[in-house]
Amino acid sequence: MEGLRHTLGVVGAGTMGGQIAYQAALHGFEVHLVSRREERLQSACASSSALLRRRVEKGKLSAEACEATLTRVTTSTDFDALSGMSTIIETVAEDRNVKRDVYARISEHADEDAIIGTNSSTLGSSLLEDAVSRPERFLNIHFFNPALLMTLVEVVPGPHTSEAAVKHAMEFARAIGKTPVRLAREEYGFIANRILFIAIQEAMHLVEGGYISMSDCDLAVRNALGWPMGPFELSDLVGLDVVEAILDEGARQTGDTRWVPLPLLHDRVARGELGKKTGSGFFSAS
Ligand code: CAA
Repeated sequence: MEGLRHTLGVVGAGTMGGQIAYQAALHGFEVHLVSRREERLQSACASSSALLRRRVEKGKLSAEACEATLTRVTTSTDFDALSGMSTIIETVAEDRNVKRDVYARISEHADEDAIIGTNSSTLGSSLLEDAVSRPERFLNIHFFNPALLMTLVEVVPGPHTSEAAVKHAMEFARAIGKTPVRLAREEYGFIANRILFIAIQEAMHLVEGGYISMSDCDLAVRNALGWPMGPFELSDLVGLDVVEAILDEGARQTGDTRWVPLPLLHDRVARGELGKKTGSGFFSAS
């Protein structure tokens, strides 16, 4: 296989897309970040730039490396910025129709040999492969939030994915400083979310059952299991709407009632209390 070219297109400039773009730039990649909305691009760049500048203040990154990283990310509202990119990661909303539309546009501009990875946590690439022009080059490349810090990347081939594409994805993840794990085949939740979200559901059952408060449950999990954040604080970080969508889709795809969201979560989402991004969720942001 030809050596990996250090070029990356990222489509979608939300929390995940922005940080994935800067993670790759930190490791020397030329990155083109594409979104339909200019404001999203600006805010993604501002928040990741601020995180990297904080690393400089803390002496964890040199000022030169930081500035070089920032210049490696170019933003665009035009999908033609994806041409010439060796790897393309899609990070748009977890909605099949939105993703289908985006894949039609990516397929118009991507190089023939580009690998396209979806960062979707709920949709295996086999549910979307009919929307891309070269399914053999398409698979899930799944990052964790916050992507500038969490080192795991799950590489999940569908039945249509070629071995060369899987190898490319593994090499790409290592080249941007991540630790990839390769799944043999698709399974709902892949590995980490499969374990994490069932554990979060158990925490919600305990609180709804009146056994413990949310803050004491978090305290217990942090201290007994060594999680850096308890299940409720972590849900606020991930976004309660995202947590509910993962659970809903899990219930639909697996038919297993363990995934069905509880009122404790659903009621907050219905009130627009989505966690850190709205200032309140299970807890209020301080
Ligand atoms: N984005 C980027 N960087 C962040 C951040 C964020 N949201 N929050 C904190 N940080 C950075 C801080 O800037 C700080 O960096 P420096 O040391 O370079 O200054 C560093 O993280 C440590 O921050 P803090 O001391 O404030 O806080 P902490 O020690 O508690 O670490 C954390 C924060 C790394 C997020 C840690 O709490 C953690 O690992 N939490 C668990 C996260 C997790 O499990 N993520 C997976 C979610 S599930 C998912 O993503 C899958 C999916 O499909 C939905």
